Amino acid sequence: MPAAMLPYACVLVLLGARTAEVAGMARGGHLPWEPSCQQPLPHTALLPPRLEGPWVSTGCEVRPGPEFLTRFYTFSATRLFRAYQFYYWDPSCRQPALSLLIKGSLRLRRASWVTRGATEADYRLHKVGVVFHSRRALLRVTGRLDRSRAGRACARQLPPARSWLPGALYELLSARAGRDCTAALGFTMHELSLVRVQRRLQPQPRAGPQLVEELYLGDIHTDRAERRHYRPTGYQRPLQSALHHARPCPACVLIARSDEHHPPVLPPRPALRLRLRLRGRWVSAGCEVRPAVLFLTRRFTFHGHNRSWEGYYHHFSDPACRQPTFTVYAAGRYTRGTPSAKVRGGTDLVFQVTRAHVTPMDQVTTAMLNFSEPSSCGGPGAWSLGTERDVTATNGCLPLGIRLPHVEYELFKMEQDPLGQSLLFIGQRPTDGSSPDTPEKRPTSYQAPLVLCDGVAPDFSRPQPHRPLLQKPLGGGGPCPQGVPLHSLLLVVGLVFLQWL
Ligand SMILES: *[C@@H]1O[C@H](CO)[C@@H](O)[C@H](O)[C@H]1NC(C)=O
Ligand SMILES: *[C@@H]1O[C@H](CO)[C@@H](O)[C@H](O)[C@H]1NC(C)=O
Repeated sequence: MPAAMLPYACVLVLLGARTAEVAGMARGGHLPWEPSCQQPLPHTALLPPRLEGPWVSTGCEVRPGPEFLTRFYTFSATRLFRAYQFYYWDPSCRQPALSLLIKGSLRLRRASWVTRGATEADYRLHKVGVVFHSRRALLRVTGRLDRSRAGRACARQLPPARSWLPGALYELLSARAGRDCTAALGFTMHELSLVRVQRRLQPQPRAGPQLVEELYLGDIHTDRAERRHYRPTGYQRPLQSALHHARPCPACVLIARSDEHHPPVLPPRPALRLRLRLRGRWVSAGCEVRPAVLFLTRRFTFHGHNRSWEGYYHHFSDPACRQPTFTVYAAGRYTRGTPSAKVRGGTDLVFQVTRAHVTPMDQVTTAMLNFSEPSSCGGPGAWSLGTERDVTATNGCLPLGIRLPHVEYELFKMEQDPLGQSLLFIGQRPTDGSSPDTPEKRPTSYQAPLVLCDGVAPDFSRPQPHRPLLQKPLGGGGPCPQGVPLHSLLLVVGLVFLQWL
């Protein structure tokens, strides 16, 4: 089944020498080029997915908590796998705390009925071992284990902090010995229960196109307490094949060479900016999947001078984002950012949504809106396919879960990919479908990044090695499909929560 799901390229890590272009950018505050946003290149999803081979993170990943990590997973033809997870103290993945070595087996089951385009899998863990890279890391883990009775028994199997030995591997789980301390640590590998593999050809600045293979694994619940029970319905940031990854990717190379005793130390990144420069138009790099299960593309414009923003959320019924269901336009204001105390490298902002428009893009959604109480969505009058209506006067659109006015507590981060393209990471939505409408619910991890189409370049103090790969606008325009099975009406009513940004 073909699918056009374009994920962002190899991100987070910068390389190369300072160039004249950068000097120009720093002086004038403008990009030396004006990327026009293009349609992502087509992808092929491999069904059933072929997992054999080594897969690596393309940069420093942030999981809810926050946890900073890199991953290196290898699957063999005999269903066995070996997975390294390297955890760090810092958001640039330069100070390793501990490494996990996870061994087990994986069996693909069937195409997922919940997440279209994904395959469900069963996995078994054979062994999980940990190597602490400092005494402090050992103390952190025993501290966590000490919180429960089962955990205290596990903590006794670890050495006391004073006799910590660099390089020693301690077993957290052994299927053969019937020992398992992973539960007490809150560790799971449920990410292996949902998989998708995609291929695409990436144009190269000065060479033929490059084959890129990506492995999407299940998402991690944003609430730590739910993690062990949650079965993923969305994805994390994809791993890329260590053999076929987007280039350049210095992180990929370092991670593919590492092991539990030699955790990868990623190259330094430019000083993380405290103040974001949001101004400009930002778009999804591909079709995005959210847990419980929405396919969408996003497009935002931030007006820096008056702190107002507008966004389009194009929703689709398929994992290639080809069959539109409805589009939401939202607009409002946002506050000045402050450095996040909880997520180093992130910026806290507050967003207000004061206006919204809705455009039904298929017959099922049109009929649903047409049958809804006039006071609940858009006032008196009929809905018709493809016609936008203002829902501000009815305080939103209840059938779609849109309530106005609305406030969200946000976490943002801005980076540059190795090709010099600006990336904007917006906070992960709570996995339970609620919205981060109190400061306590502010995200601690990020969604797939948006890319800058035009606007003022963020003031990165680092180079601009190549012209970026250009991208066209996403979403919107396609022809409307001839109708969608009735059950998707229920999906629309039941699963759409307002997830603004
Ligand atoms: C802010 O400025 C932009 C562009 O100049 C304009 O389109 C928008 O309406 C303004 N928003 C507010 C709330 O004033
Ligand atoms: C919406 O309602 C109007 C008026 O009741 C009707 O004419 C129209 O056919 C309906 N459209 C759909 C798609 O149900």
